[in-house]
Amino acid sequence: MTAAIYIETYGCQMNLADGELILGHMTSHGYVRTDDPEAADVILLNTCAIRERAEERVIGRLTDLARLKTRRRDLVLGMCGCMAQHHRAALIARVPALDLIVGPDAYRRLPTLLEAARLARTTNARDRDAPAVARTGAEVNPLVDVRLDPDETYADLPTARTPGSVRAWITIIRGCDKFCTFCVVPYVRGRERSLPAESVLAEVRAAAANGAREVVFLGQTVNAYRDGDCDLAALLRRAAEVPGILRLRFTSPHPADVSLELVRAMAEVPAVAPQIHLPVQSGSDAVLARMERGYTIADYRALVARLRDAIPEIAFSTDVIVGFPGESFADFDATYRLLEDIGYDHAFLFKYSARTLTKAARWEDSVPEDEKNRRLAHVIALQEKISATRNRRWIGRPVEVLVEGPARRSPDCVAGKTPQFTTAVVAAAAAPGTRLWATVTGATAHTLLATPIEAPEYAPGGRAPRAA
Ligand code: SAH
Ligand code: SF4
Ligand code: F3S
Repeated sequence: MTAAIYIETYGCQMNLADGELILGHMTSHGYVRTDDPEAADVILLNTCAIRERAEERVIGRLTDLARLKTRRRDLVLGMCGCMAQHHRAALIARVPALDLIVGPDAYRRLPTLLEAARLARTTNARDRDAPAVARTGAEVNPLVDVRLDPDETYADLPTARTPGSVRAWITIIRGCDKFCTFCVVPYVRGRERSLPAESVLAEVRAAAANGAREVVFLGQTVNAYRDGDCDLAALLRRAAEVPGILRLRFTSPHPADVSLELVRAMAEVPAVAPQIHLPVQSGSDAVLARMERGYTIADYRALVARLRDAIPEIAFSTDVIVGFPGESFADFDATYRLLEDIGYDHAFLFKYSARTLTKAARWEDSVPEDEKNRRLAHVIALQEKISATRNRRWIGRPVEVLVEGPARRSPDCVAGKTPQFTTAVVAAAAAPGTRLWATVTGATAHTLLATPIEAPEYAPGGRAPRAA
């Protein structure tokens, strides 16, 4: 009998891409995908460990889902992803209903592991009258496979892509070697390893055939990508040749390793969108040094200037942590001023959360929680204003929008992204994947409103329109 699998993913885009990879792999082993946990034979939570809150959400959800087991005694409840890797021992204690714990490098073995877990459940289900301890043997002893494998790239496994999705997220490098002192990723994802360029390009072609018009290359240090002579810049140039692909992006580049070649590729290849996510983390050199980020604010500013110089209308986004151990008010103020100075289009703002295994977790978490909250609220309020101002600069100007589908709140409109990765709502009817031109009539901190126009001869300050 075919079994139905339900996956719920938390965390970053790379984890979402892993969710598609797991679905593709399991489908090729006879499983069918379901979007309804109640109809599933196997439930997998694909988890994130980056901050404490991410983990608490997962524990809450697992506890909810575990209730389904009272009705479905053969249901298998599993957990994969970064938190599975990070906290397996604690998890077994906190969620006794877990049958399976699988780390990010063990997905190739999932079909076998799931078969074993299902067999254990069915045996338990049949054995209902056995004493409780014996019956729940598999519950207190979940199967665990968290072996990290420095060679595993899953390059040969099939990916389940949502049919017709306009954007494809493609992992090109896994793991991380940077060991920033706050970050758990190198511990849960293991060492950096790049996928072969040929298999990345095959993925790009497959995504294009599936209807994708935009591709985003993914990696925690995406600019560390290398396969022989092919680095990220070369890969972008090659991917731009794939018919049907109109836009290329990549995330996240590490600011210490943005090469001149990469800047050149961004400037020269029309398909590479004028947008970059460049996580700065802090505006203070002292904090950056303790984070072991490998750049100073002067280096970072020079990089921003170089990018602005080379790529007209480039949009910047960033990640910031407030309340890192030892962050003084002056350090925080430097971050605040940096946000004002750079004028990011968008920023992901976090308060520091100590992660076991990391270096910083051994230091005193010195900024009190209420002060962290205050600092976070300050930068959030500032960034809202900055994003609104940045977006207002488009009012009255033509923008190119790649349509993704109907707008959520305005049924007569379509929504998509501009090259700068800003969401635009256009008063038009157009199929997903259509590229249209529109004049911006209004802007909030998060969205542009626009009315459709003919493709202009020249887009002031933007890029010249290209044929679709
Ligand atoms: N590889 C990316 C970061 C990926 S993690 C880079 O180096 O830029 C995404 C973001 O989560 C980080 O940029 C950081 O801002 C935040 N983050 C990571 N660990 C954190 C922690 N322990 N507490 C709070 N925020 C954290
Ligand atoms: Fe974490 Fe630093 Fe690696 Fe980014 S570069 S994933 S912040 S260790
Ligand atoms: Fe979270 Fe793992 Fe991504 S820790 S941010 S899901 S790499």
